[in-house]
Amino acid sequence: MQHGPLRNAYLDALGIDRWVPRNAPAEVLPEPAVAPRAEAPAVPVTPAVQARAPAPAPAPQAPVVAKVPPLEPGIDWGPLRERVAGCMACDLCKTRTQTVFGVGNTRADWLIIGEAPGAEEDRQGEPFVGRAGQLLNAMLLAIGLPRETVFIANILKCRPPGNRDPKPEEVARCLPYLQAQIALLKPKIMLAVGRIAAQNLLATDAPLARLRGKLHHFGEANTPLVITYHPAYLLRTPSDKRKAWEDLKFARATYTRVAGTN
Ligand code: URA
Repeated sequence: MQHGPLRNAYLDALGIDRWVPRNAPAEVLPEPAVAPRAEAPAVPVTPAVQARAPAPAPAPQAPVVAKVPPLEPGIDWGPLRERVAGCMACDLCKTRTQTVFGVGNTRADWLIIGEAPGAEEDRQGEPFVGRAGQLLNAMLLAIGLPRETVFIANILKCRPPGNRDPKPEEVARCLPYLQAQIALLKPKIMLAVGRIAAQNLLATDAPLARLRGKLHHFGEANTPLVITYHPAYLLRTPSDKRKAWEDLKFARATYTRVAGTN
């Protein structure tokens, strides 16, 4: 597929000046490789949720379960999806409309990781479907990745009320689901968008400015991990779109190197 005109259209949509390569062939971005992948390895175990002290009066709301059974090693996509859909490991289950498991090609080389569902995602059950999602789609397409060729997931599977930052205990209880998704997908590269995703994946409180622009690695598989700005931030701060574009090109070049494609 010829990506030049399409990419230019999306760079325009991003509000980024077009990048004119020195030689014409380099302008044409390759088809994203979506190679068949091997089956899943063992899945990390969900930490047991501590028993809560009994409430003095019976709670009128649906109870949050006191103990979450660990994910079975090697759990497949279907059962994992069901576990997420029925999760009551933290209080976010009381306020969500539905869980947001993730979406995309389960054989994708690319895993895109955001923070948590927003209002629209909570309503539709799919990550990045609001305005930030439109921009994310444009960002991905600008490096030759139509949305349906990647897998998109969040650190949290439920919307925090009012879009507040995830609490550490919410992240701790939800992260095993993402780890299981990573174990199943075995992505060749991960792209974390935004501070919350980056900091939680890297277990650091370093600011985003220090995390972007360099190559990180994640987990036992040492998966290459690139950090960039969250599209919602870029909507508020368009002047940083240029830096985001540098990150995206860096991610694309890293993928080309590690996957042996062009
Ligand atoms: N922001 C995120 O980080 N994830 C979504 O799914 C939507 C908005």
